[in-house]
Amino acid sequence: MNLKTALEGKIPKDDIHQVSNSFEVIGDIALIEVPKSITKHEKIIAKTLAEINNNINLILSKIQDVEGTYRVPKYNIVFEKELTRDFSWVPKNLRPTEKTETVHKENGIRLLIDPTKAYFSEKLSYERNRIKETINDNDSVLVMFAGMGPFPIVIAKNKNIKLDAVEINPQGIKYFKKNVELNKLENKITVYEGDVSKIVPKLEDKYNTIVMPAPKNADDFLDIALDKIKIGGRIHLYTFLPDEEIAKITRKLTERCKKFGHDIKIELVRKCGNIGPFHYRVVVDFKVLN
Ligand SMILES: C[S@@+](CC[C@H](N)C(=O)[O-])C[C@H]1O[C@@H](n2cnc3c(N)ncnc32)[C@H](O)[C@@H]1O
Repeated sequence: MNLKTALEGKIPKDDIHQVSNSFEVIGDIALIEVPKSITKHEKIIAKTLAEINNNINLILSKIQDVEGTYRVPKYNIVFEKELTRDFSWVPKNLRPTEKTETVHKENGIRLLIDPTKAYFSEKLSYERNRIKETINDNDSVLVMFAGMGPFPIVIAKNKNIKLDAVEINPQGIKYFKKNVELNKLENKITVYEGDVSKIVPKLEDKYNTIVMPAPKNADDFLDIALDKIKIGGRIHLYTFLPDEEIAKITRKLTERCKKFGHDIKIELVRKCGNIGPFHYRVVVDFKVLN
C-alpha cells in the first residue's frame, strides 16, 4: 500500500494530495519532506509510513534543503520505534552509536551513514554501479568530492584497482574511513581530507578514471581534473542543469576543455536525478584524447 492510500481517513483529503509517495530509505532510516502547509500532520504521516514499511525504525523530516560547501540538509526526528535497533551483524567497533546513524546496503557493500552529518543519496546507487562497470582491473582511479565514500567503496570492492579519494567535510571523512574498514578496503583506497583544489594538484599520479560527484558545479574543478587524467582516460562529471541547457552541454564542455588544451570525446549525457522543477543532476562521461 502506498502512503497516500494509507493516510485516507487519517488526514483531510485535500492535505493528502500534498503528501509525496516518494522518499529515500537509508538503512533503517526514512527521509521525508512534508510541505509547510501540512506540517501539522507530520507526526501522523511519519507514523503511517512506518506502519506500512516494517523495516523503517527512524524517520527524519527535512526542514532545510542541502546547503553550504558540505551539502548537508537539516532534519527533525519525527518518528522512532521503541524497539532497540539491531546492528549485531555489523562488527562491534563499526556499529551505529548515535540515533541518526545507520548501516545501508547497496551494490554488495555496506556503508555506515549519518545523513545529518554529511551528504548521501541512495538515489545515486545506479550511477555508482554504472561507473564501476566502466573501470578495468589495474586502472588507477580518483574520486573527488567523495563524501562518506559510496563511489570509492563500490568501485574498489568490485575491481582490482588503486583509488585515491578527496573530501573536505571532516564528518564525511570520519564515516568514509570507517566505511573503508567496514568493507576491508584499506589496501586499495587512500583517503585525503581537504579541498580538491589544494590536494589534487599535489597528487603525483595520473588516473585512468576521475569521478567528480560535485557539490554544485564540477565545472570549477575541470582544469584540475584535466591535469590529472591520463591520455585516453575517462572523466565522469556531475553537474546541475535546467532542462533547456542539457542539449548544449556537449558543445560547451568540448569548448571549455579545448581552452585548457584538451580534445575530448563525449560518450554519454544522462539525467540522474531531479533537483527542482525542470532542473536536473546530469552526468557527462567523456574521454580525454590528448
Ligand atoms: C554532492 S556531495 C557527493 C558526496 C558523495 N560523492 C556521494 O555521492 O554521496 C558533494 C561532496 O563534496 C564535498 N566538497 C565540497 N566542496 C569540496 C572541495 N572543494 N573539496 C573536496 N570536497 C568538497 C562536500 O562536502 C560533499 O560531501
